[in-house]
Amino acid sequence: MKLKNDILLRTIAGEEVERPPVWLMRQAGRILPQYRKVRSSLSGFRELVNTPDLAAEVTIQPVDELGVDAAIIFSDILVIPEAMGLPYELIEKKGPYFPRTIENANDVDLLRSGLDAAENLEYVYNAIKTTSANLNGRVPLIGFCGAPWTILSYMIEGSGSKTFSKARRFLHQEPELAHKLLEKITKTSIAYLKQKIQSGCHLVQIFDSWAGILSPTSYKEFGLPYIAKICESISEAPKIVFAKGAWFAMKEFGRLNCEVVGLDWNMSPEWSRNQINSTQTFQGNFDPAMLYASHDKIQSETVSMIKRFGGNHIANLGHGVYPDTPLENVKVFVNTVKNFRYSKLETSSGHHSDLKISNL
Ligand code: CP3
Repeated sequence: MKLKNDILLRTIAGEEVERPPVWLMRQAGRILPQYRKVRSSLSGFRELVNTPDLAAEVTIQPVDELGVDAAIIFSDILVIPEAMGLPYELIEKKGPYFPRTIENANDVDLLRSGLDAAENLEYVYNAIKTTSANLNGRVPLIGFCGAPWTILSYMIEGSGSKTFSKARRFLHQEPELAHKLLEKITKTSIAYLKQKIQSGCHLVQIFDSWAGILSPTSYKEFGLPYIAKICESISEAPKIVFAKGAWFAMKEFGRLNCEVVGLDWNMSPEWSRNQINSTQTFQGNFDPAMLYASHDKIQSETVSMIKRFGGNHIANLGHGVYPDTPLENVKVFVNTVKNFRYSKLETSSGHHSDLKISNL
């Protein structure tokens, strides 16, 4: 089906666009009253994730309400551990919880992997098909998965954590077993992303939410190679790699077979561009906490962000939007991007040497 709004895909393809495309990580969720309404009528988050019609409904809500240039399928990265054999729960006001975790080699051996695991995610593929039909080509649909290291951390830790010290301990005490587990997660993620694309996703994002808690050396051993493997295996659609906090691996992101690199708000656009030799598109990196500022401030900071990237850029936040962010403020951000026009010197050609980057 031909897309009515393809500015996101044109930007990624290196075409000249009049402004950056815009969407927000975690745009489908509690910032929207429509989401809270659907959610409050259900037994919980899982019912929403597991019911394709409902997942499709909340996926489209931000497209209607905010006018963003992409939808991201409503789901969670934790469906992967569950499909492999470790079910998750979501505890109200606390977050993810795994009744069983990985403790030894036998636990790793018992996990399903690859197609065998990915075929348990039919409800996600159905949600994508329904969303795709209901979107009717309005905007592209983004699929996603967690990066293997981030998924491993939940499988070992069993819940969220400030330090993920148990998961980090596992890497150093049982490196071989850790690699075996990462390999199984990687195989599953590849099969999963391929199915998602086949079901109707136009591009995919890999979320490495806990990349930044590893040392550069550990990240190069336990994080990057598995992301690289996923990127090498997916040629059916463009890939976005977003590794929160991993500024130290920017050079390596530049060598990944991915079309887009996501930046968090700690990563400077100019510094990051200098680190890489590719024409990869950047995505990010507005501080989500800046969305609590006045409308004027949000507006001027958004323009300043766009100018600093200077083209070949997808406007987004540097991480997910916080659930208590005023909706009006989110709209100011989105509308500021949509009203922006690149001047000649800042057009998004994908050839950065031609760009005038202001605010250095
Ligand atoms: O709009 C979108 O971005 C799509 C939906 C989406 C959710 N989770 C829905 C969700 C996406 C892309 C995710 C990814 C995800 N899930 C990540 C990676 C992105 C990141 O933020 O770093 C991670 C680490 C998770 C794990 C997870 N799921 C946590 C830590 C939590 C609890 C924290 C929270 O936000 O409440 C969840 C639950 C979750 N996933 C919610 C939503 C909307 C809140 C559930 C609710 O409605 O109560």
